[in-house]
Amino acid sequence: MTEAMTAPPLPDRATLTRLTEPQPLRDALADAVQRGLTGPDKWLEPIFFYDARGSELFDRITELDEYYLTRTEASILARHGDALVAAVGPDELVEIGSGSSSKTPVLLDALRASGGTCYVPLDISESALVEAAERLTTERDWLTVEAYVADFHRDLAAVPRNGRRVVAFLGSTLGNLVPHERKGLLADIRTMLAPGDGFLLGVDLVKGEDVLLPAYDDAQGVTAEFNRNVLHVINRELDGDLPVDAFEHRVGWNHDLECVDLELVATRDIAARLRAIDLDLSFESGESILTEHSCKFRLPDLTQELAQAGLCAAQIATDPEERFAVVLALPADLA
Ligand code: TRP
Repeated sequence: MTEAMTAPPLPDRATLTRLTEPQPLRDALADAVQRGLTGPDKWLEPIFFYDARGSELFDRITELDEYYLTRTEASILARHGDALVAAVGPDELVEIGSGSSSKTPVLLDALRASGGTCYVPLDISESALVEAAERLTTERDWLTVEAYVADFHRDLAAVPRNGRRVVAFLGSTLGNLVPHERKGLLADIRTMLAPGDGFLLGVDLVKGEDVLLPAYDDAQGVTAEFNRNVLHVINRELDGDLPVDAFEHRVGWNHDLECVDLELVATRDIAARLRAIDLDLSFESGESILTEHSCKFRLPDLTQELAQAGLCAAQIATDPEERFAVVLALPADLA
């Protein structure tokens, strides 16, 4: 691992530490394109969605009528967040994949009510962390922020403790991992927890396709733009000429994995070249690139998945329609 470094320009009561020196985007993309776009089954890793434009489009997705997830999770936290956090009584709140920390304020109020003062956001985006640290400390004179630039696939164990902790993983980001990846991540999260700590997990639940599919295929086409943006990122970083408009956004329900699959489908035969890495790509008309899985959960299965990672689902809060759930899990013996 790269040696941790501390970057200075931050408000008082905030620190930022890099646990990960991010791989240059260009190298990471070149790898991903080689692995994902040169064989018969084409796929891309979702992490490349989030350049500046992608992050902006994603923020717009969270406000769409069809995209019920963000507002439903927020309503559950507004109603039950206090009690879920108070059940642990933490000194610190650690948030994995905190992004813009937009869902955090309600949890920070709960942290304060428990006498805790420390917020520990972990994210791959340094700029998002700095902005969140500034905003949250300015609004709260009692709060300290200890931010980490971290990759949740490998850095979780390196985050130092400041007493009893609640670890939050919200937004149904767990659903963007397939089962074997989830197993690894939940096991890593389990190692962050000591007896008395808690894990707060937000997940989207299985429901009808009439509700699920529009959430990823909105009438305004924002999600389609978000999906296609990954091709703009490739063109820009790898000096490519992929005809972005010749790819169509498609969503479908994957019965095996119980997830919504996002794809980009070639609407004609396409030949493209990525000059920066000297790579020719070709797509037949109708061929698709898988860009994201968004798995949906059933509570009994999720409880079992947690138990297999040594986590016991102690409390489950849902909205009245049971669209979304926030689970408080406590460390248990491994099943
Ligand atoms: N985890 C959320 C979800 O699956 C957010 C998200 C991740 C998302 N990737 C996305 C939303 C792609 C729309 C499109 O819904």
